[in-house]
Amino acid sequence: MKALGIDIGGSAIKGAPVDTRTGRLLAERYRIEVDRRTTPAALAKAAAEITAHFKWRGRVGVGFPGVVEGARIRTAANLHPRFVGCDAARLFGRATGCRVAMINDAAAAAVAEMRFGAGRGFLGKVLFLTLGTGVGTCLAYQGVVYPLEFGHFPWKGGRDAEKYVSTAARDRKDLSWEEWGDRLHDFIAELERLMWPELIIIGGGASSKHEKFFRHIRPRARLVPARLLNRAGIAGAAWWAAETLG
Ligand code: BGC
Repeated sequence: MKALGIDIGGSAIKGAPVDTRTGRLLAERYRIEVDRRTTPAALAKAAAEITAHFKWRGRVGVGFPGVVEGARIRTAANLHPRFVGCDAARLFGRATGCRVAMINDAAAAAVAEMRFGAGRGFLGKVLFLTLGTGVGTCLAYQGVVYPLEFGHFPWKGGRDAEKYVSTAARDRKDLSWEEWGDRLHDFIAELERLMWPELIIIGGGASSKHEKFFRHIRPRARLVPARLLNRAGIAGAAWWAAETLG
């Protein structure tokens, strides 16, 4: 059981073939830089470059950093606005010549962590956060993952929370690990008050540096880094393709 997983972020598109029974990446990730000026056509070309790099012909799962309903993209807070309303399975399918399944990027990473990583076998309430250009959020209960959009929770002065707590915000404001950790603490405390998770899993690019900021976060729940680190999005997108494209 294999599928190609593609993870689209605010700064890069990355892909690799995945063993969808174990979540293991079968080759080194191939990465192409993108930003919010990258149009849907240019991003589709980048996806085609990834499939060509692996000489891939099978199923492809794509994790997108916005609300995804079936094949269609509903929001794209950190990417080109022309993605909104676009049938992305068709866009990427045409460009790559492969059958494509779409999933929200945080949901892909959360699914991978629940099946193969830090949440494996845990049936209680899990809050999953991905920290990157944006902030992805999911809740899982009894192993079922729900994509949420708490990165857009109105925060200090009504701006989206992700503008304060993303890794992009840390870079932009040149925050120390402690300053950033304190911001994350406040955000997570608020989410805990509303959702009462038993386990919190932090994924995204920052998860590999968790020892630098975890000590500034003092949650009620158990706090752990994603076990698949930033490979979770690729593994989960591939798993989703295998699950839904037959
Ligand atoms: C998007 C989410 C996404 C998150 C992480 C947010 O801006 O609205 O859908 O999961 O960024 O990429």
